[in-house]
Amino acid sequence: MDLRTRYLGLDLSSPIVAAASPLTGEVDNIRRLEDMGAGAVVLPSLFEEEIEQNEQTIERLSTAGIESYAEALTYFPAAASCRTGCERYQELVGRARSAVDMPIFGSLNAKSERGWVDYARAIEAAGAQAIELNLHFIPMDPSLSGREVEERYRGIVKAVKNAVTIPVAAKLGPYFSAMGHMAGELFAAGADGLVLFNRFYEPDIDLAELSLSPHLDLSTASEIRLPLLWIGILAGRGAGSLAASSGVESADEVVKYLLAGADVVMTASALIRHGVGHMRALVDGLRTWLAARNLDALDAIRGSLCQREAADPTAFERANYVKI
Ligand SMILES: Cc1cc2nc3c(=O)[nH]c(=O)nc-3n(C[C@H](O)[C@H](O)[C@H](O)COP(=O)(O)O)c2cc1C
Repeated sequence: MDLRTRYLGLDLSSPIVAAASPLTGEVDNIRRLEDMGAGAVVLPSLFEEEIEQNEQTIERLSTAGIESYAEALTYFPAAASCRTGCERYQELVGRARSAVDMPIFGSLNAKSERGWVDYARAIEAAGAQAIELNLHFIPMDPSLSGREVEERYRGIVKAVKNAVTIPVAAKLGPYFSAMGHMAGELFAAGADGLVLFNRFYEPDIDLAELSLSPHLDLSTASEIRLPLLWIGILAGRGAGSLAASSGVESADEVVKYLLAGADVVMTASALIRHGVGHMRALVDGLRTWLAARNLDALDAIRGSLCQREAADPTAFERANYVKI
């Protein structure tokens, strides 16, 4: 059965990709994911804040006790522990690249334009075959308009594309007034693909402690609906690659996303919940679904239920609400 897939202009042996999460930060897991049939792996994001914190710690440690030199030498941190967050990330990229044949994608969440550009270059230099921009940013300032926020997203994509030669994917949340237009703008800015959607940490309140509780719930299968809608609407328009992300629990969600037109389907929560070996269940489940319908390649189903191809395109529209 031919599960080969093109994504961001790269050849993948399978359309199922391990999304960015702490699991993909371990090279042993990456090796196992390839053995279990993953097509590629996205490393956890390199966060600019983490690098800054790390650099400040090094600065503090290296200047502390400078006035009592001999003594300072005894507690100055060993060179190995002084590596910056960026260097550590580059090492991870390098080790992952040498451990497997499948493509390794770096992921970046920066704050400043300089950070986006410099760290994207560093990730490329380390050998990542593509880079995912984790464009998470909450416009907390009420004076910031939607247009300004969109401009910021476009600017980041443009700046990174000008700085690197590897393909660039923009990973977004779903909170745009006009998702279709925004997608078009990001492709026009140079994005080779879009990852729809990221799930964000949203604070809850702990009623016992009367405090905000930082908590990230793993997803459930019902969460595929919003990305499924937008993949279905955007697919087949020829602008660039589409990756589906959110709610993949079993092979059923993988098949649904492919029918809607996703080029690849990503999974994080299910791998965390069931372990890295769950990748095998997803890949085998996809094969079984295709074999039961005598299909031997993905092209037979990919996008066959996207809005452009669906027998009833109005099924994507609100009008259908009335019927329901
Ligand atoms: C514990 C955890 C850590 C994550 N870390 C990252 C990250 O570093 N960068 C990123 O872009 N997405 C990150 N994500 C988001 C996932 O890559 C994925 O887009 C999201 O969880 C939706 O997919 P899922 O329903 O399969 O979990 C993380 C998700 C989880 C659950």
